[in-house]
Amino acid sequence: MRLNIVIFSGAGLSTESGIPTFRDSGGLWEQHRIEDVASPEGWERNKKLVLDFYGMRFLKQLECKPNPAHEAIGKLAAHHSVTNITQNIDTLLERSGSEKVWHLHGRIDMQKCEFHRSLGFTFDSGFDCDFKSRISKPIQLGDLCPKCGGQLRPDIVWFGEPVDMREDLLMDLIKNADIFIGVGTSAQVYPAAGLLPMFRRTKEKYFIDPNPNYELLDGFEVLNGSASEQMPKLVEKILG
Ligand code: APR
Repeated sequence: MRLNIVIFSGAGLSTESGIPTFRDSGGLWEQHRIEDVASPEGWERNKKLVLDFYGMRFLKQLECKPNPAHEAIGKLAAHHSVTNITQNIDTLLERSGSEKVWHLHGRIDMQKCEFHRSLGFTFDSGFDCDFKSRISKPIQLGDLCPKCGGQLRPDIVWFGEPVDMREDLLMDLIKNADIFIGVGTSAQVYPAAGLLPMFRRTKEKYFIDPNPNYELLDGFEVLNGSASEQMPKLVEKILG
């Protein structure tokens, strides 16, 4: 039987590929101030600093390879209907065979116009420019939108900006999920934090993390350990 499987991931899924998490010790937020590099106000203050931060992360992820957890998810997707909801901006899931990947926080290999409507929360630019495209090298100060001339910026959702929630898709996933798997997220940031209780009716629920927050995991089978160790085992179990 083809199962509907939802996999909700965070930085812990990619850390064994060499991409650091945010809140563990040595994580990204220990080395950079969120308000400087991941907020609309930081962008207004110093665009070059923000572009350099994401340029570095773009180059870093190109060097990184999918780890056994990404590969196991790709294998599962070859047999069942797997939808990934990820907070990760890297493309390691796509690079290991997953086709349905919903990036809640955007993608590091995409750029958009600084006047894109997702900035509507913080200031009224007077118009919306919907330009977005893939990038093959870091965005530089002076790289301008071909439609309106705005500065191009990473297609990343910053703190204070709205997440692309796609309510219809989410409702559909909640209604039809046979299995829900959470992996490598501290689930502290909304709306992702609200996602775990939304799947409370899904009978089979797993959570993989070496440091799980048990308070959020009522009804889950917790697989305490790293993604690359636990995900392949779980996928083997599901595939029988
Ligand atoms: N395997 C699985 N999980 C791991 C591993 C590993 N090898 N190593 C660490 N983890 C777990 C940690 O225990 C923690 O629960 O990954 C989680 C990482 O949590 P965060 O650093 O908070 O990352 P995440 O939950 O993805 O953060 C969400 O916050 O700052 C924002 O936009 C950023 O998308 C990010 C969001």
